[in-house]
Amino acid sequence: MPITTTSADFVAWFRSVAPYINAFRTRTFVIAFGGEVVADGKFVELTHDFNLLASLGIKLVLVHGARPQIEQHLAKSNLGDTYHHGIRLTDAETMQCVKEAVGRVRVEIEALLSMGLPNSPMANADIRVAGGNFITAQPIGVINGIDLQHTGSVRKVDVAAINDRLKFGEVVLLSPLGYSPTGEVFNLTLEDVATAAAIALDADKLVFLMDTDGVHDKKGNLIKELTVSQAQEVLSAKHKLTDDVALYLPCAVRASEAGVSRTHLISRHNDGAVLQELFSDDGIGTMVVESTLNTLRDATIEDIGGILELLRPLEDEGILVRRNRELLEQEIERFVVLEHDHRIVGCAALYPSPDEAAAELAALAVEKQNRDHGYGEAILNHMISVAKGQRMKKLFVLTTRTAHWFIERGFVESDISTLPAHKKSLYNYQRKSKVFVRKI
Ligand SMILES: CC(C)(COP(=O)(O)OP(=O)(O)OC[C@H]1O[C@@H](n2cnc3c(N)ncnc32)[C@H](O)[C@@H]1OP(=O)(O)O)[C@@H](O)C(=O)NCCC(=O)NCCS
Repeated sequence: MPITTTSADFVAWFRSVAPYINAFRTRTFVIAFGGEVVADGKFVELTHDFNLLASLGIKLVLVHGARPQIEQHLAKSNLGDTYHHGIRLTDAETMQCVKEAVGRVRVEIEALLSMGLPNSPMANADIRVAGGNFITAQPIGVINGIDLQHTGSVRKVDVAAINDRLKFGEVVLLSPLGYSPTGEVFNLTLEDVATAAAIALDADKLVFLMDTDGVHDKKGNLIKELTVSQAQEVLSAKHKLTDDVALYLPCAVRASEAGVSRTHLISRHNDGAVLQELFSDDGIGTMVVESTLNTLRDATIEDIGGILELLRPLEDEGILVRRNRELLEQEIERFVVLEHDHRIVGCAALYPSPDEAAAELAALAVEKQNRDHGYGEAILNHMISVAKGQRMKKLFVLTTRTAHWFIERGFVESDISTLPAHKKSLYNYQRKSKVFVRKI
């Protein structure tokens, strides 16, 4: 078959997702979505995506809600909806409606996950859905003199039982109900169940499908990534958050603080949102990452001492081109630094040539005692997204000793003639650096 642009794009795209596929196999993802997804008839598309994730060997735990269905049931039974401090009060009659609504939603989800129609993305799908008394609950109790009765919170997650099911390739579906050792049933929130499950299972990802597309800053721009402390700042800042974010962001913080490495807040209205968020560098929502002592940030003039200290030994060894203090002062805005516990342990600089849509990555360095922790790669990835933001189409490096490191990260050897004109004229023929290029 002749390679057309479309088929070449397809091949390039398919290859680009391979690293994610390898990285995600056997990982545990907890994905939570409200009853609205089922009520709106959107669950079919989502089922296709779950099917795909499961076929890639990802261990899936799905957590569903049933809020609109419960409200419908309550209205039909002429029962009011009572909230106390934002928490639903569940008396015996309400609990009856909750059980019925949750049961119905669950059956509907299980039916859709069982589809296997030919000529659909579910053809040959073999999803087995597991359920059970995996969640032990306790009553929330009395708040300000009001007994919330059958409203509960998660007390324990039966990790061994869930892992048993996941081990056999089954998808575990958790409902917002929990059982107590006294034999009672409690009405739980989906966010509590999802967060508790992700923490207990030591999940690699927790995903919340929401009505909005993520967390926005004061100017309304979508924030792609937040560390836990940044997320806490957003929560304590004065600007108004959407109901979704106010509900799920604290859960993301709780999960991250307890060791869940990534929590994603994404829109349920976007077809393929889960796939786009998980299988692309940029994602489409907001990702909350574990709190870290590391910060990757733009360098300032105060960092020059630290950068010099880091680069000097490498320059002495002839690995990097020498830069004196004056040059660093002039070029400091081109640098990023990686700080670990307030100490500079890594850096890199980016020199864009806008006319040729190419940028040079230079002075990439990680302190010797901090190597092999993925810091070099984190800096490279950061620089790639900065370069993309500046509309660069390729990134090149000149290196004498680190060729293989770059090759293993998607760079290919190229010729001096392919360098941007300005860089070509400055090329140092004595150093004999090799040129490597990566399309970005
Ligand atoms: C290149 C450099 C930035 C990588 O930093 P790092 O934080 O150790 O990088 P990562 O942790 O992301 O990657 C480590 C992996 O790269 C491998 N690696 C390190 N140097 C390598 C080299 N020269 N060639 C091939 N692989 C190399 C390590 O063995 C390790 O492999 P593993 O993951 O299989 O264990 C660091 O080695 C460095 O500062 N080198 C000196 C400066 C330099 O050469 N800069 C590039 C020119 S601009």
